[in-house]
Amino acid sequence: MSRFFDLVSKPARDLGTHKAPNIFPAPPEHRSALIKLDSNENPFGPSPRALEAMRTAVGSSNLYPDDDCSPLRRELASYHGLPTEQVLVTAGSTALLSLLCQTLLAPGLNAVTSQCSFIVYSMAVQAAGALLIEAPMREDSFDLEAILAAIDSDTRIVFLANPNNPTGTVLEASVVESFLSRLPGHVVLILDEAYYEFAQHFAALRKTKYSNSLDYVRQGASVVVLRTFSKAHGLAGLRIGYGLGPAELLAYCARMRNTFSVSSVAQAGALAALHDNLHIGRVVENNAIQSQVLDAGLSALGYRVVPTSANSLFCDVGEAGAVVAKRLREEGVAVRPLEHWGAPNCIRVTIGTPEQNQALLSAARQLGMRRAATEPRVSSSARGM
Ligand SMILES: Cc1ncc(COP(=O)(O)O)c(C=O)c1O
Repeated sequence: MSRFFDLVSKPARDLGTHKAPNIFPAPPEHRSALIKLDSNENPFGPSPRALEAMRTAVGSSNLYPDDDCSPLRRELASYHGLPTEQVLVTAGSTALLSLLCQTLLAPGLNAVTSQCSFIVYSMAVQAAGALLIEAPMREDSFDLEAILAAIDSDTRIVFLANPNNPTGTVLEASVVESFLSRLPGHVVLILDEAYYEFAQHFAALRKTKYSNSLDYVRQGASVVVLRTFSKAHGLAGLRIGYGLGPAELLAYCARMRNTFSVSSVAQAGALAALHDNLHIGRVVENNAIQSQVLDAGLSALGYRVVPTSANSLFCDVGEAGAVVAKRLREEGVAVRPLEHWGAPNCIRVTIGTPEQNQALLSAARQLGMRRAATEPRVSSSARGM
């Protein structure tokens, strides 16, 4: 008989008994040899300007950090053209997701998102004792009508990951704008723009309009825009991200935040990384070029690849994604199988450096050749591709 089952809160009990998917990276001892294309991390490492600033900041690690993250908040406010009160810095944008859920949700209330979206939404909502309603997808992307239809009087949050993780699909600015105009007043839209820099670069190449999200914040809409230093800036291990939204709502969230939760090294690194345009430019350019290389290489192997606006590719591999991911891992390349996202035949591949991507493609070719040698030939149409 479990000692604490009856003592812990119901949300903790529900989360504890629910078998969590292993979404976390490989243990450190395996990392050096492994080509990590499983967690949408930056393949070029941290921003060099951040590294320099962090080396200096480490010398003051005996002191507690600035709990308000004041210099960084001020810089982010001026960078985005918003008052400081409309910026909240947290230990990664996922920490702000949790704070928003704790602030806006409770048992009996719900949040709405799409199926096959960022897995932390369900964890954060459940930890707040609330219900996450996942509307069905349409053609690998969000079905906004289905999301609107799922909203009821108990809904307090709608999450839109834009671009979405794991599908990499994007909603253009005009689409988000009309969606927002149809949201009822009791609902806060969380626009998760973790892959903002990548999507912005893709949109410029494709001559489309990606996001007007900060206009909504400026206009005082019930919108919180999430951004992170984990992706284009290469600071995932530092844990620092932020939200831009209504001052009053962010102030409630700030009061729920753990004291000193954002380290002084992270604050210094983020402040420097924000303006490291050389690093960010290199990262997003490589990403756009290599997305085409990987797309072509994986498509040639018979995988169905969804066009991306993020730093990863969503691929239907036509068989159990977990098996393909396991075999690729044996070849030294980690990718993410997506059965826990309701896509059992799919994997997500982070776009790496040219060398990493070639290693992935040659590992995938090896698997293809081995399969062809051992299994009877199955046509694409028979696999439903
Ligand atoms: C949609 C989305 N939001 C947020 C995050 C996490 O950001 P952070 O590292 O700032 O917590 C990720 C990371 O994979 C993501 O895919």
